[in-house]
Amino acid sequence: MRCLLTASLAVAGLAGNALAHRVDGPVRHRKSLGFGPVHKHAVYRSTPYQVVTNAFTRMSADSDPFQVARLFVEDILGNQLSEASSYKIRKDSYTDSNTGITHVYVRQIINGLEVSDGDMNINIKDGMVLSYGNSFFTGATPAHLAQTALDVDIRHPHQEFCDGLTDEIEMHYTSFLASQSDQEVMGDAASAPVPDAALKHLTHLHHSNCRFQDIPSTLAAEAQGQDLELRAALLQFMIAATPSDHVVNDILSNYDSHLSKMVEYSESNHFAPSDEMPYMMVENVPDAVNPVKAKLAYVQVPGKDDDSVHLSLVWKFEVEMQDNWYEAAVSATAPHRIISVVDWASDAPVPIPEPEQTATYNVFAFGVNDPAEGKRTTEKENFDTLASPVGWHSLPFANDPSLRGVRLSTKEFYRNTTTTWGNNVFAQENWEGQNAYVSNYRPDAGKGKSFDFTYKPKETEKPDALEEAQKYINATVAQLFYTTNMVHDLYYRYGFDEVSGNFQQYNFGRGGQGNDAVIANAQDGSGYNNANFMTPPDGQNGRMRMYLWNTAIPYRDGDFEAGIVIHELSHGLSTRLTGGPQNSGCLPFGESGGMGEGWGDFLATTIRSTANYSDYAMGSWAANRVQGIRNYPYSLNETINPSTYKTLDKPGYFGVHAIGEVWAQILWVVSQGLIEEHGFTDTLYPPAPRADGTVPEGDFYRPSVGKKPLVPKHGNSLIFQLVLNGMKLQPCRPGFFEARDAIILADQQLTGGENFCTLWKGFSAKGLGPDASVVLRTPWGGGVRTDDFEVPTICSA
Ligand SMILES: *[C@@H]1O[C@H](CO)[C@@H](O)[C@H](O)[C@H]1NC(C)=O
Ligand SMILES: *[C@@H]1O[C@H](CO)[C@@H](O)[C@H](O)[C@H]1NC(C)=O
Ligand SMILES: *[C@@H]1O[C@H](CO)[C@@H](O)[C@H](O)[C@H]1NC(C)=O
Ligand SMILES: *[C@@H]1O[C@H](CO)[C@@H](O)[C@H](O)[C@H]1NC(C)=O
Repeated sequence: MRCLLTASLAVAGLAGNALAHRVDGPVRHRKSLGFGPVHKHAVYRSTPYQVVTNAFTRMSADSDPFQVARLFVEDILGNQLSEASSYKIRKDSYTDSNTGITHVYVRQIINGLEVSDGDMNINIKDGMVLSYGNSFFTGATPAHLAQTALDVDIRHPHQEFCDGLTDEIEMHYTSFLASQSDQEVMGDAASAPVPDAALKHLTHLHHSNCRFQDIPSTLAAEAQGQDLELRAALLQFMIAATPSDHVVNDILSNYDSHLSKMVEYSESNHFAPSDEMPYMMVENVPDAVNPVKAKLAYVQVPGKDDDSVHLSLVWKFEVEMQDNWYEAAVSATAPHRIISVVDWASDAPVPIPEPEQTATYNVFAFGVNDPAEGKRTTEKENFDTLASPVGWHSLPFANDPSLRGVRLSTKEFYRNTTTTWGNNVFAQENWEGQNAYVSNYRPDAGKGKSFDFTYKPKETEKPDALEEAQKYINATVAQLFYTTNMVHDLYYRYGFDEVSGNFQQYNFGRGGQGNDAVIANAQDGSGYNNANFMTPPDGQNGRMRMYLWNTAIPYRDGDFEAGIVIHELSHGLSTRLTGGPQNSGCLPFGESGGMGEGWGDFLATTIRSTANYSDYAMGSWAANRVQGIRNYPYSLNETINPSTYKTLDKPGYFGVHAIGEVWAQILWVVSQGLIEEHGFTDTLYPPAPRADGTVPEGDFYRPSVGKKPLVPKHGNSLIFQLVLNGMKLQPCRPGFFEARDAIILADQQLTGGENFCTLWKGFSAKGLGPDASVVLRTPWGGGVRTDDFEVPTICSA
């Protein structure tokens, strides 16, 4: 640690942590790494472009969008295309059934390997390219596989990440020491490791985040016996990723034994031929809970002191750990540097038969944010017939993980349950805090499916508070199941459907990958005062962990605060919609990771808001703090919430939650402009479809005369739609500018741009006008920003 300044104390208080002086229980820290190269050459263009064929004819409005995409890509790549340098159109590309926009995802291929951050997303309608993002590598193709950036002096991204965190760590440590001794700390606070307690709930500041211990090169070189040693690279990553000092020491002192214990085999479960390069699987990896998936790829790394970009040959790993699910790129040859890492887990402080009988639940109804805002009522299983055609308590026998390996004698296709186990979500307790879920306890409401359970926590002595909370587990799990299904159905109706990567065990033959319902753990024993969501690519279950909050007695249960659940589920939404369903690495850190948090706050706040305007804070009830868990409540009043785009430059704004708070505040202001113009609807749920599947307009959509796209009539439903459509249009790894432009483009597509000036007015009010800028961007979200409060000239008349 460098010198600690008392001056930073005040800042820490302001930007600091909401729960600092509240939390007195054992709060466990989840370590989470997230960093990688900045792609200066990446572009996002949202000016429509007419693709012209080789024969110089324009592509017609009814052209195959994939053909348009191919011509477009080949036009952009031009003479770069060769046998060694090509591209593939990813299979998770799709056409949005409401807007008619085809979202095409393209991956760069060099020497037969994917360039894992060489992404294009191309949005196409009526033969036109509406917008596209492009981060393809444009340098010379390496002559052979390993002729890469290893000999170039590349930056050490992990080290750079840590340099950026140092200031913030110092700040929090200073205020921690002050709070410990109740007096200011002067001078240098020594170089001892910063204890987790000092870092509070800021998970990106875990004490071991900055452990970048290179495996001694003598060892790594030995392991290099073969040309590309996968296991040495993986151990290097595990040293950085594990939160446990014990595991680090064990790896370093028993290095050879770990290398020999780890077993590689190739994944060969493709029944049908596949053009995907198969994964290698690695077993017995220290601290991983499942075999690690590995494959060779390239990533782009910046040169040290210039704008050059180089390719580095890496092992790409997918590592599932107790509290993390990492996608990491580690250079394939020694020294095995970690080039980038994304944690798929995010914290908060997210002819079909009709069911004979629908379930009922004694819950806080959707829209009632928490127990302070209303009472529990009896709610019906009011499933949306488009989103959940078989209801919430049915799923095919074949897609039921509790029946894996069981021989069935039934001819029935769907299995009906009387528990919190269905096609969209598996909800259960997880007191042990482990990864198993199938056999965990969940309530069974019996034949009548009446989920009516007691929730009357008593005030106890502190040591008994946990046991008291566990007594109402039935009510908790039922609530979590209900809220998660309501969100599933709501997001579905705004376009988070099967092809765009939603979470369902069975996709009803409508495309996308199934077997990925949300695993929703109530009262998860792995921590207090938080929640998190892990989003692997489409086709693998999302996992949500909800915690108890020891901020009061009786303990408060995050499962009952809808805002927290919605925030978590929204991580799944934004991660799957940005950059395509099969790419979970598009909101990794910095501004994009921050927006991943911000969308959750914004959507949760929009869901709870009513016709009479009010400010809202996040997590007030669970945190037992009026101001909630963010720095400011969401508000139109600049005294109450002063955030603007430039706020991101402040100390304390490196973490994704602080960045997200600024984004959510900007969206909140933008949404109020639309509400002023178009009014407010009390329900965000569109009308039920008619028997033939068409959707009536009701008072929800504007009159459409059978035409698409359907346009929500009111301000709050319209912004909901624009935000989701924007997620589909924006590029992989967007910044605030790209996300803003994508929302404006979404309006252009949906309404012909009638809200152009209303939207700009909202963005500009918070500094995100057309001339806002950022320079010296860093991988963790730093940089120097300039606010622009002007609107485009066309709007200022
Ligand atoms: C599940 O419920 C549906 C709808 O009532 C019914 O058609 C089906 O037979 C049930 N499945 C089984 C296995 O009982
Ligand atoms: C939960 O509900 C079941 C019935 O599904 C009941 O038997 C059990 O006693 C309840 N558990 C608690 C802790 O109330
Ligand atoms: C909004 O405020 C008006 C007038 O104060 C009141 O009559 C109405 O019930 C309120 N509506 C809601 C949804 O709270
Ligand atoms: C904004 O909030 C401040 C502080 O609460 C208050 O004094 C002021 O009156 C508010 N302004 C408006 C326009 O409501």
